[in-house]
Amino acid sequence: MICLSANTAMKDSFYKKRILLLFGSPHHVGSTFRLVMQFLDQFEDHTYLLEQYNLFEMDLLPCTDCGNCQHGLCCLNHIDYYEEIIEAIQRADLIVLASPVYCGGFPAPVKAMMDRAQQFYVNKFAGRARTFPQRKKGILLMTGGNCGEKLQEYLSIPTKMFFDCINTEYCGKAIIGNLDNKLSFEADFSHIFDKISDI
Ligand SMILES: Cc1cc2nc3c(=O)[nH]c(=O)nc-3n(C[C@H](O)[C@H](O)[C@H](O)COP(=O)(O)O)c2cc1C
Repeated sequence: MICLSANTAMKDSFYKKRILLLFGSPHHVGSTFRLVMQFLDQFEDHTYLLEQYNLFEMDLLPCTDCGNCQHGLCCLNHIDYYEEIIEAIQRADLIVLASPVYCGGFPAPVKAMMDRAQQFYVNKFAGRARTFPQRKKGILLMTGGNCGEKLQEYLSIPTKMFFDCINTEYCGKAIIGNLDNKLSFEADFSHIFDKISDI
């Protein structure tokens, strides 16, 4: 069983795949957590290492478009915990962005984390060495009270933009969008596993 405590890096090992969970719910054991657990249950035990960041507990600062990343990485990385996220992305084979839907988008701490990835996009076009030279795979897991198909499709757009910034292939999403009407759910991840089977 994986312990989903705050910002925990599990023991190192060279032969296991590394999953980075960017967890964007304020509830440690809410709907988003349950969706994440269903996803992780698809893997055989002991075949992966999980590293988790609880974005609601990190006080990440928002991008202010100060322009400093034209000349290097974001000047805020040293002030909050973004440097740790960068290093965790570098270590990861699979990045799982997990979040509830808030006002048709992402909760503020998740959005701050995604916006700050713009620094890597700027760096790429400034011709500097890439922070993430090795391409990763990424997926989106979301829960919503009343999130219809149109909104679910839309949510792939900012997700793909974020993953593009960190040189990550967006391999699909599992969104449970109707939790206002039901308590239990069983997510289907087969379309995702078709694309991530080689990690
Ligand atoms: C501030 C706020 C805004 C929300 N906005 C939406 C929304 O736009 N669409 C939707 O489907 N659900 C919305 N919800 C409902 C949550 O997405 C839903 O309850 C989710 O499953 C909560 O996940 P959690 O248990 O991990 O916190 C909102 C909830 C909150 C607190």
